[in-house]
Amino acid sequence: MSLAELESTIAAMVQKGRGILAADESAPTIAKRFASIGVVSNEESRRIWRSLLAGTEGLGEYISGLILFEESLDQRTDKQTSIPEAAWAQKIVPGIKVDKGKIPLALSPGDLITQGLDGLAERLRVYKAQGARFAKWREVYAIDKNVPSQHGIAANAEMLARYAAVCQAEGLVPIVEPEVLMDGCHDIERHAEVTEAVQQAVFQALARHNVVLELMILKPNMVLPGKECRRADPDEVARATLNVLKRCVPAAVPSINFLSGGQEPIEATANLNALNQQAPNAPWQLTISYGRALQQPALQAWQGKAENSLAAQQALLKRAHLNHLAMLGEYQADKEDN
Ligand code: 13P
Repeated sequence: MSLAELESTIAAMVQKGRGILAADESAPTIAKRFASIGVVSNEESRRIWRSLLAGTEGLGEYISGLILFEESLDQRTDKQTSIPEAAWAQKIVPGIKVDKGKIPLALSPGDLITQGLDGLAERLRVYKAQGARFAKWREVYAIDKNVPSQHGIAANAEMLARYAAVCQAEGLVPIVEPEVLMDGCHDIERHAEVTEAVQQAVFQALARHNVVLELMILKPNMVLPGKECRRADPDEVARATLNVLKRCVPAAVPSINFLSGGQEPIEATANLNALNQQAPNAPWQLTISYGRALQQPALQAWQGKAENSLAAQQALLKRAHLNHLAMLGEYQADKEDN
């Protein structure tokens, strides 16, 4: 493990007022996002979209990391630089989603597990040579009456910890993403209870596997009521989320970068702002690793048309800026109108 290399990546990624843009949707997921604006997903349309995101002028002021999907590491922008080089040009560190998606956990109805550990070290060496400096792995937990089970929680924690250890051994900073879904009709207390059990198990597993907490980033869900039932206001979300984080996340972890998980873009910004207002002296950065909540307005502006590229980049920059204000606890709803 090269500590200096990991330390320099963390220093480049963890800065007050900056966060991560997740543009690492798998092929089926990006196809769904594109279908919502009538665009067919193929290698070229994905290249154009992700080049547009990485090439947004000024983005580096608010964004310090860009998570890419495997094929994007190799793709070139119209200016003939690679997408990772386009990110670096704005001091945005390129990273890569390395898990291979979720499947049902055998003999454990309702639990899920993520694949991709076999051959991971070899893959990481290739990604690193292509410019990636950090990685992301997502475990997914659906909430139901008896799910996730204790066994499911333990198995998923083990996967995240094994992945994180391999990343650090190979000199890439691991983003550890345990996502408790907001789908369904659970109340906020149930979401808190499951998120706490999940995070406790994850940090125990990380300790067992000798993962250096100072050299990783946690990407959790916020604590929310099930989205089919009600929306909670930002103060309630922030309170419930901070209660869990304070119990589970050691102060050695430098940064907590939330996923948006199906929250509306404005909702995700307002919730982050409340978190930073309630915990201005938290030991960790409280920031973003948003996918949909950053990209959705930009996708709507783009509609797959070259003449809309600038409008799409402006929409992305606007959301990045408003989230930057939320990282400082300085966001106000009326700023949406400018
Ligand atoms: P969302 O912000 O759209 O949830 O995406 C973040 C992500 O990377 C999920 O793995």
